[in-house]
Amino acid sequence: MPHPPPLWTRFGAGTPLGGAAEFLFRRIGSRLRSSPWLTRRLFQVDVEAQNRRTHWDMALLAIRGPVLGAVTPGARVLEVGTGDLGLLSLHVARHRPDARVMAVDISGPFVENARRMAQRNGLHVEFLVSDLFASVEGVFDVIVSVLPYVPRAWGAASARHSRFPEPDSVWDGGADGLDVVRRFLQDAPRHLAPTGKVLLATSDFFHPPEAVRAELGDYQITEVHRLALNPTRLWVLEQTMRKVDRSGRSP
Ligand SMILES: C[S@@+](CC[C@H](N)C(=O)[O-])C[C@H]1O[C@@H](n2cnc3c(N)ncnc32)[C@H](O)[C@@H]1O
Repeated sequence: MPHPPPLWTRFGAGTPLGGAAEFLFRRIGSRLRSSPWLTRRLFQVDVEAQNRRTHWDMALLAIRGPVLGAVTPGARVLEVGTGDLGLLSLHVARHRPDARVMAVDISGPFVENARRMAQRNGLHVEFLVSDLFASVEGVFDVIVSVLPYVPRAWGAASARHSRFPEPDSVWDGGADGLDVVRRFLQDAPRHLAPTGKVLLATSDFFHPPEAVRAELGDYQITEVHRLALNPTRLWVLEQTMRKVDRSGRSP
């Protein structure tokens, strides 16, 4: 995913200090994010990046703590858009061994590689190829997602300069960056247990919080998590209108 610089680089944009901050962020940041040692320290899993250099990004850093807080004993967890490493789902499986974790991605090769990472770590996660919820059955107590949220024009320009170009489907969120998020929010209630939570990451760099809030419709925001110097905003959502049919499914 073209990586948004943290918000603080905006304030110094065009100044020597801003340029130095951006340089340090990119150089040192990508070193840290590709360190097997640091990845093990942060996520307690051992992964191997294939077609990209880094293992995790600012969004995963912001989510790794709150997701564990949301997963109660025996919870059914679904990650939508797990990526080629399945890192967040493996992290949940490692720390919450009694949770049942399913993870989906639209990319077959990503799912295949994420399965290999699960085997490598001796962890059980059910990985599936799915366009959002299309191939998902059942309901979940926690649905967590870092979907593409980069506006197409910004991402295309950034991808041209990337030494490690990724498929557009990793980052392309359509014209305003929220196309995939909108579809996700529309479909998630069908798979959310009545007391379930949706954890959705967006980036303040691309979307002012009001723009995301405007998409939330019938969801209630129960928590918002932020980390200092990290543009990620993690929304914890519940359904306000719970219509549940006899099978326990929300329509
Ligand atoms: C920003 S990446 C996040 C990957 C991973 N969760 C991480 O944080 O490293 C977005 C992921 O969503 C996947 N994706 C994009 N559109 C999707 C869709 N319609 N259904 C399922 N997955 C999708 C991409 O293939 C990509 O792996």
